Amino acid sequence: MRSLVAILPLAVAARNIGPRQSSQKITVDVTQRYQIIDGFGISEAFQRANDILNLKEPKQTQVLDLLFNTTNGAGFTIVRNGIGSSPSNANDWMITFAEDPGSPTSAPIYTWDGKDSGQLWFSQQAAKRYGVKTFYGDAWSAPGFMKTNKDDANGGTVCGLPGATCSSGDWRQAYADYLVQYVKFYAEAGINVTHLGFVNEPDLKTAYASMLVNGTQAADFIKVLHPTLAKNNMSHIVITCCEATGWSVQSQYTQQLKAAGVESMVGVITAHTYTSGISGSQPTSQKVWETECSDLSGGWSTAWYSNGGSGDGYTWANNIHTGLTTGNVSAYLWWVGTQDRATNNNNNEKLILVDGQDYQVSKRLWAYAQYSRTVRPGAVRVKALGGSGLKTTAFVNVNGKLAVNVINTGADAVSISLSGSNGSAVQAWVTDNTHDMEATPASITEGTVTGSVPGRGMVSFVIL
Ligand SMILES: *[C@@H]1O[C@H](CO)[C@@H](O)[C@H](O)[C@H]1NC(C)=O
Ligand SMILES: *[C@@H]1O[C@H](CO)[C@@H](O)[C@H](O)[C@H]1NC(C)=O
Ligand SMILES: *[C@@H]1O[C@H](CO)[C@@H](O)[C@H](O)[C@H]1NC(C)=O
Ligand SMILES: *[C@@H]1O[C@H](CO)[C@@H](O)[C@H](O)[C@H]1NC(C)=O
Ligand SMILES: *[C@@H]1O[C@H](CO)[C@@H](O)[C@H](O)[C@H]1NC(C)=O
Ligand SMILES: *[C@@H]1O[C@H](CO)[C@@H](O)[C@H](O)[C@H]1NC(C)=O
Repeated sequence: MRSLVAILPLAVAARNIGPRQSSQKITVDVTQRYQIIDGFGISEAFQRANDILNLKEPKQTQVLDLLFNTTNGAGFTIVRNGIGSSPSNANDWMITFAEDPGSPTSAPIYTWDGKDSGQLWFSQQAAKRYGVKTFYGDAWSAPGFMKTNKDDANGGTVCGLPGATCSSGDWRQAYADYLVQYVKFYAEAGINVTHLGFVNEPDLKTAYASMLVNGTQAADFIKVLHPTLAKNNMSHIVITCCEATGWSVQSQYTQQLKAAGVESMVGVITAHTYTSGISGSQPTSQKVWETECSDLSGGWSTAWYSNGGSGDGYTWANNIHTGLTTGNVSAYLWWVGTQDRATNNNNNEKLILVDGQDYQVSKRLWAYAQYSRTVRPGAVRVKALGGSGLKTTAFVNVNGKLAVNVINTGADAVSISLSGSNGSAVQAWVTDNTHDMEATPASITEGTVTGSVPGRGMVSFVIL
């Protein structure tokens, strides 16, 4: 505590002992198990993948490493791709691979460009180089010709859903078939799509790809999509819903899905945190993912801690903690991994600013790294107790390694004594204003780990 430093005799201070650290005990109880973790990730939708594709080596590899490498990057394990619906590649749109065949019963017309707005290349890098296994394809909208407003943008909804009749007919089955075709194109390119979503922010009408669907309408479509996946031997692909703009509005969607009897067909409930943050778990027994968050308001910031600003890495380390604990989430995804300077006044939507042939890394990336590199897919969250002023989560990984992630919310360093692991070896990494997930000393004696967490810093311990 800083106040103690002031009362230390000068002679002691002069001997360079440094400020005395308060000492906190943390106990992990691996017998108390919570949710299984699927991972952490990002999207490169809306042509953001091209930011990386257009970088020359060695910078291209450096940025890919920053996102996926488990020794010098964030070690992300989930890629969320946008399934294109737009008529062209103008602006930052994601082009669709379907043309209007005239009616929903006509043979579909599909033209695959093998690029998918840079996302296919990006997914292949993630899979082949870094072993990423979780690929989430999510459509912001159906193609315009399948919708009430004949436009993939500006709201509207899929013809044939309750309350949505169109003279062109009922396009629900055509839309489900289209999503299956997307999975096939990815499979042909060596990428297994593991999760599939058919809406994004269905409670918000925007000038870009968007459609308005309520929970009852979503349930109606799930009753078409679910058997369509089964018919195509794709029952292993997890249907997600509904990517609502905030945690509260998604709770309403989740209730509507349940009321309509489709909860068991939805493998993962998905929500964003823009219009409301995580204040509790979703009303479901299925898995829950937080699939999109970012700081839309702030100017580009690479700060770790600037008084808790909305772009601070520290703020997001805390938000991820809240998601994993209060929110019971199995995944916590950021919005885009990269973005250029011009888009949206260079705000904090991105983790990495790609600026022509240069790039800058925000501390938000390192907040993610602390979790994503230590808590790997399949890990189970377990109980972590104690530590005043600390926010601690603990996870048992599939390989038996115990990850304990500690955020120090106080201004001064705290020394930690961590029991309950029975381990014999420990490694630790720290992020704060001056460190980016750097190795930091920790030791273990008779199963008890000793280490230290700097003020407003985060340390991840991995114990075996
Ligand atoms: C991750 O980075 C390390 C250190 O630079 C490098 O040796 C390793 O090859 C990278 N891993 C992958 C999968 O590229
Ligand atoms: C969803 O929209 C349909 C069509 O407009 C409407 O009939 C239904 O009441 C809505 N459901 C809810 C839960 O709002
Ligand atoms: C994709 O799935 C197929 C069929 O389940 C499997 O044989 C293949 O190994 C998977 N490919 C990758 C890259 O995971
Ligand atoms: C699904 O798998 C079955 C059994 O392997 C096979 O007979 C059938 O052709 C497959 N269907 C499709 C659409 O791939
Ligand atoms: C947490 O999520 C799991 C599924 O991952 C679910 O079984 C459990 O009921 C959820 N707990 C709460 C409190 O919502
Ligand atoms: C440590 O040992 C205790 C007592 O044998 C046991 O209850 C606990 O589950 C063990 N913890 C781990 C992480 O293996």
